[in-house]
Amino acid sequence: MLNLNTYIGKLKLKNPVLVASGTFGYAEEFSDFIDLRELGAIVTKTITLNPRQGNPAPRTCETPAGMLNSIGLENPGLEVFISEKLPFLVKTGVPVIVSIASESGPQDFIILARQLDKIKSVAAIELNISCPNIKSHIAYRISHIAKLIAQDPKSTYEIVKSVRKVTHKTLITKLSPNVTDIVEIAQAAESAGSDAVSLINTLTGMSIDVENHRPRIAAITGGLSGPGIRPVAVRMVWEAYQKVNIPIIGMGGIMDTSSALEFFLAGATAISVGTANFINPRATIEIIKGLKEYLIRNKIKDINSIVGSLKI
Ligand SMILES: Cc1cc2nc3c(=O)[nH]c(=O)nc-3n(C[C@H](O)[C@H](O)[C@H](O)COP(=O)(O)O)c2cc1C
Repeated sequence: MLNLNTYIGKLKLKNPVLVASGTFGYAEEFSDFIDLRELGAIVTKTITLNPRQGNPAPRTCETPAGMLNSIGLENPGLEVFISEKLPFLVKTGVPVIVSIASESGPQDFIILARQLDKIKSVAAIELNISCPNIKSHIAYRISHIAKLIAQDPKSTYEIVKSVRKVTHKTLITKLSPNVTDIVEIAQAAESAGSDAVSLINTLTGMSIDVENHRPRIAAITGGLSGPGIRPVAVRMVWEAYQKVNIPIIGMGGIMDTSSALEFFLAGATAISVGTANFINPRATIEIIKGLKEYLIRNKIKDINSIVGSLKI
């Protein structure tokens, strides 16, 4: 018998294949393409306390081996999410991981987590402290340099610690690749009580239309995702795996089974599929099937036994 069961904190998943926040809407959008019940878990588009319209268009553009986006966390807000989006998600029977972000400092994170903590059908909370497209993620300013929460170990520790106090649910902290040392941020999240870390969010990037001298997205800079960022993501998972003891949910350019496997070998306990969903809405299902075939082909019974099995 093959074992694909995986634990993220106390949350048990039937397989380790998730969808990355913001690339799968609230799941209903994908219900015509795949059997949602097959997924290991669904991570929602990040929600904020109040509805957000997001950033002006154009919000996305293609890049070599990827895309840039600056959606700006468009979402219907907590209340509408609970009344209109959550019921469908719960009906899938798949664990629902709700991604949250703040528009105004730590307080929003605490209010959101407190509210979600009361809802039994919410399996886990992911703290999005790493979105490059929203100003409120800026923790503070040192001279003229603005930083995201996830770019500073102290701010990361403080946010995670304060949310940890208000929820017993599995808590996942989503980290930014736009840092010099991913390990110190992962360790800050771990020591503040996070049950797992997700990495990576998008890399800050920029693309210019040389004919009209304008940026290709209205927000000028945006988040780079897709296969082009995979080597950076795999490297960061591998670095974090050696220094933290909590599970790592790996993502960044996972397009197929082989790229998913790179993350497991580097140390990810589970993986998330993001940009690939736009290109092939069946990518997750194909990866679940492909992982099973890989295990059978290599006579491996338990997916957990390949986690961090990189040979050096
Ligand atoms: C269009 C788009 C929207 C995204 N929105 C969110 C979001 O709301 N919250 C979040 O934590 N990450 C968001 N992300 C980042 C993804 O969850 C993921 O971390 C990143 O894209 C890397 O994975 P990928 O290369 O497989 O897409 C978004 C990415 C894309 C492409």
